Amino acid sequence: MAIVQSGILALGTSSHAYLEFDRRPGTDDAALVAAVAELAATVKTTGATGLVVGLRPELWAAVVPEEAPVVHGYDEAVVGPDGFTMPATQHDVGIWLTGGGRSIVFDATTHAVSTLAPVAALADETVAWSHHHDRDLTGFEDGTENPPAAEAVRVVAVPDGRPGAGGSVLLLQKWVHDSAQWDALDRGTQEDVIGRTKPDSVELDPKPEDAHAARTDQDTYGHVFRRNTAWGDTSAHGTMFVGFCAEQGPLAAMLDAMAGKDGPRDALTRYTRALTGAYYVVPPADALAGLAPAAG
Ligand code: HEM
Repeated sequence: MAIVQSGILALGTSSHAYLEFDRRPGTDDAALVAAVAELAATVKTTGATGLVVGLRPELWAAVVPEEAPVVHGYDEAVVGPDGFTMPATQHDVGIWLTGGGRSIVFDATTHAVSTLAPVAALADETVAWSHHHDRDLTGFEDGTENPPAAEAVRVVAVPDGRPGAGGSVLLLQKWVHDSAQWDALDRGTQEDVIGRTKPDSVELDPKPEDAHAARTDQDTYGHVFRRNTAWGDTSAHGTMFVGFCAEQGPLAAMLDAMAGKDGPRDALTRYTRALTGAYYVVPPADALAGLAPAAG
């Protein structure tokens, strides 16, 4: 049975870092994937270090053509009918490191950067944290409608018998909030934007058509598992959207819906905007381990 990368489901850590890498010229697909597999094999679990490694979908498909799920990179911006744009910033490798504190994550981050240095250059790095455990910087609880832990594995992992079984699709998208505008809204207006109450995250009934929870309604678009965190400082901050799914369709459909392609544009996008966007295949842990040089 294929084994899903455990970091996707490892809850409760407070400190996070997201690293995205571009391959160095002259590095072939196999060498890049082998280096990533070696990294995955050498990150220690002491200090509650969690690790999720993702690869540009076409890169994983080139190395294991029989075993890759059908996924494409985030190669074109998502543009809504009014011009609202979520940019495409696809890289070759995406890594999420998490731990019980900043020091642990810092050490794991420098280990990752130096392990991959011969084959890949760091293109983007975001340091993040779990804000009051499960709050977004808008002040709202984020993750209320996530599946319970016991079901999450079915939501994130490609099922047995399909190409890429045990793998997952990750959408990694960094958003920056316009906090001055957001904070100027009264609580009722903010709740209409999200579609839930602020203190206790109760779903509004009815909720506005353009509420975020309406534009990403999982009964319409399919179920995903979100592991979002907060990033930034007082001058620039927002949400690191970290969404996993067994297939790409639901994630892509939600982005289209938020941009207003099949209805009103998501009200939340008037107060936050995407700075980055990339899809990664998160290979099954056992498949990746089999490609580490020591395993060969
Ligand atoms: C700045 C960016 C974002 C923020 C601050 C944000 C915040 C929130 C909040 C506060 C909720 C309500 C509570 C909950 O159920 O978790 C929510 C729901 C949700 N969001 Fe987001 N979100 C963002 C971006 C996205 C993106 C990019 C996607 C998908 C690609 C997405 C997918 C969802 C889904 C699926 C739900 C649950 C909808 C349901 O009720 O079925 N969100 N989000």
